Amino acid sequence: MHSIPTVSGATGEAGHFEEFCANPALFLSRAHAENGEVCQFDLNGLRTVLLVSPEAQEAVFRAPDEQLNAAAAYQMMVPVFGPGVQYGAPPELERQQLKIQATGLRQDRMQRYAAVIAGEVEAWVEGWGEAGELDIYEAFTRLTLKTSTHCLMGTRFRNTLTDEFADLYQELEHSVSPAALRDPAALGEVSARRDAARARLAELITAHIDERRAKGEVHEDMLQVYMDATYDDGRPLSADEIVGMVIWFMFAGHHTSGNTSSWTAVELARHPDEAAAITAEIDALYAHNEELSRQALKEIPRLQDFIMETLRLHPPLVTLTRRALVDFAYGDYVIPAGSNVMVSPYVAHRLEQWFPQPERFDAARPEPDNVFAFIPFGGGHRKCVGNAFAILQVKAIFCALLRRYRFELVDAPESYRDIMPSLILRPSEPCLLRYARRG
Ligand code: HEM
Repeated sequence: MHSIPTVSGATGEAGHFEEFCANPALFLSRAHAENGEVCQFDLNGLRTVLLVSPEAQEAVFRAPDEQLNAAAAYQMMVPVFGPGVQYGAPPELERQQLKIQATGLRQDRMQRYAAVIAGEVEAWVEGWGEAGELDIYEAFTRLTLKTSTHCLMGTRFRNTLTDEFADLYQELEHSVSPAALRDPAALGEVSARRDAARARLAELITAHIDERRAKGEVHEDMLQVYMDATYDDGRPLSADEIVGMVIWFMFAGHHTSGNTSSWTAVELARHPDEAAAITAEIDALYAHNEELSRQALKEIPRLQDFIMETLRLHPPLVTLTRRALVDFAYGDYVIPAGSNVMVSPYVAHRLEQWFPQPERFDAARPEPDNVFAFIPFGGGHRKCVGNAFAILQVKAIFCALLRRYRFELVDAPESYRDIMPSLILRPSEPCLLRYARRG
C-alpha cells in the first residue's frame, strides 16, 4: 500500500481551507499538477482526497452509497431543499425522488419543454434592436431563471414571476459556498436568511399548488409531475416535499445551464470562423421553415460539439464529492473512512493524455474512448438526469441568437476568466459582448 501524498502549502489548523475556498478550480489544478492521480488535502480538519483519472473517476462513480456516500458529503443542501427531500431523506426515499425528477425530464416530455423554452427565447431577443452591448452572464442568468421557472411551475407562475422570487432564490444560493462544504453549520447570519427565504418560497409555491388543486387544473410541467407522483407504497408527495423538489430542480438546472450558455457565447465570439460555420448549419435548418422548438430537438452536430467543448473547458460543477463511510481502496491506496472523496471535471478535462493541448479550445477534437474521461454531467448512478434538458435549452438559445446576430468580444480575450464565487464555475464580470444584426 502507498501513503497518499499531501498537497503542499497547508497553514495551521485550517490546512488548505483558505486556498481551496478562494478558488476550488485553481486549487485542485495545483494539487493534481503537484501530486498526480491521488492526493489529499486538509479542509479545516476534514481530510479530502482528490482522484483524477478515468479509472479513478469510474471507481468513485460506481461505488455504492454504502461506501462512498453523497448525502453525507452534501449535508449543506438539506436546509435548502428541506429535511425530507434528497439528501435530507432516507436513502430509499431519495432514490424514489430522484426517479420522479428523472420521469419529469424524460425524452418524451422534451417536445413540450422545447416549445416553452423557444417561446421565452424568441420573446427575449425581440427587443435587442440592430446592435448593442450586453453583459451576457447577467442576461443568461435572467433568461434561464425564466425558462426554468416556466418549465417547472407553468405559465401562470412564470407570468407573475416577481423580483421577490428571484431575490428569495438568490438568498438560498448564498448559503451554498465552498466553505459550507466543510461545515454547513458555520454559516451564521447567512443561514438565518436562507431559512427565512425558504419559508417564504414555500408559501409562494404552496399557494400555487393549492390554487391548481382547487381549480382542478392539470398542466404539462414539472410541478404537475410532482403533484401526481406517488412513492412505491402509493403515498403522494407532501406539500413540503413538493416545495423541496421544486427548489432542487432550480438548483440543479438554473446556473448550470445559464453559465454554460454564457461560456458558449464567449467562446463563439472568440472563434469567429467556427461561429460562422455553426451559423450556416443553423441557417440550413431554418431554410426548411421549421419552428425553433422543433429545431432545438434536432441533431445540430457542429453546435453540439461546440457546446461539449465549452463544457470540457468550463464545466459548471468543478467538485463532485462523496464521504467515505468505510475504508475505500483504490489501486495501491486506502482512503480512510470519514474522509471526503472528490472528483473534479475541471481537472479531469485537462489531462493531456486524453485531451492533447488541453487549454486549446477545439470543438473538433475526438471524443475520448473512455466514458469516464469526459464527465461534465458526472457518471454512474448519480449522473445528471437533466442533461438532455440542459442541452436542449442551450441549443434553443443559440439557434435563436445566431440566426439573427453575430457577436464579438468587447474586452481582451484573456480577460474572460473562470471564477468561482460559489461552488459553480462561471465567467468573470463584466462579461461583455457586442452584437450586431446579420446582414
Ligand atoms: C449544463 C448543465 C448541467 C450540468 C453541467 C450538470 C451537471 C451535473 C452533475 C455533474 C451531476 C452529478 C453530481 C454528482 O455526482 O455529485 C448532476 C446531477 C443532477 N442534475 Fe445536472 N447538470 C446540468 C443541468 C441540469 C438540469 C437542467 C437539470 C434539471 C432540469 C439537472 C438536474 C440534475 C439532477 C436532478 C441531478 C441529480 C442530483 C443527485 O444525484 O442528487 N441538471 N448534474
